[in-house]
Amino acid sequence: MNQSLRDNKYAPIGVFDSGVGGLTVAREIMRQLPRERIVYFGDTARVPYGSKSRETILRYSRQIIHFLESKGVKAIVVACNTASAYALEGLRPEMKIPIIGVVKPGAKVAAAATRNGKIGVIGTEGTIASQIYTEMIRRHNPDAVVVGKACPLFVPLVEEGWLKDPITIEVARRYLASFQETGIDTLILGCTHYPLLRSVVRDIMGLGVELVNPAYETALGLGRLLEECGLSNDSAGPRMERGQSNGSANPQDAPMYQFYVSDAAEKFKNFANSILPCEIKEAQLIQIEE
Ligand code: DGL
Repeated sequence: MNQSLRDNKYAPIGVFDSGVGGLTVAREIMRQLPRERIVYFGDTARVPYGSKSRETILRYSRQIIHFLESKGVKAIVVACNTASAYALEGLRPEMKIPIIGVVKPGAKVAAAATRNGKIGVIGTEGTIASQIYTEMIRRHNPDAVVVGKACPLFVPLVEEGWLKDPITIEVARRYLASFQETGIDTLILGCTHYPLLRSVVRDIMGLGVELVNPAYETALGLGRLLEECGLSNDSAGPRMERGQSNGSANPQDAPMYQFYVSDAAEKFKNFANSILPCEIKEAQLIQIEE
């Protein structure tokens, strides 16, 4: 890490996802690291990532990282499980700033949480097919039994806002039935959208199964990473109201949170306002391919 990057502690964190799902990660960063500014990019034109190939996800992620770097971010959070599974390690050697994904932190906590060594993972088709959670969990617990299940219908159900709808409950019952005979005591919500279905999953799996939300652990891990790199925003001065700017050149006065999307900005804004702890005034549309 060079000196100019170390001095850049007022710069924002870049957070990206295939769309709205990564807002669950941004929400945790807002809660746990309230001094940190965020530039969020949601690839709403090209969602879903969960059914696309590794090569495509790598290409998309590289474009987005270049965009976020152009916004002067000091670190990047890959808030999407599928992009963390397929692109993170390939991109890390190209990076001059720290980058963190959601898979490693989630796997670490699950490996520590399980009492019987049997862990379930739910995620997109890509995340489950990549076996990345199994690999990461076994780094901490080589004997762990990991059972994966892709739950692709969860994403559109969440985006439709059907968080507790009888249809969602029925779909969840069908997907989660495959865990019945496995004896898992820990279940990773390995997709950005799934923490929003936490209570549905909890009701079906019962209190004996610990649910792990990688978003929570990722925000904790980000805090540690920023500390280690000397990049934490430790300013004690007054902050601007979230999402607002007074046009000052002082980086500390820049907007707390900025949102960019590749399509459907209004829909994104409405979804964001339904789950974030602050009101966002706009999501700016950009051409990510250019
Ligand atoms: N954000 C994606 C993930 O966490 C879910 C949505 C998608 O398939 O793009 O894997």
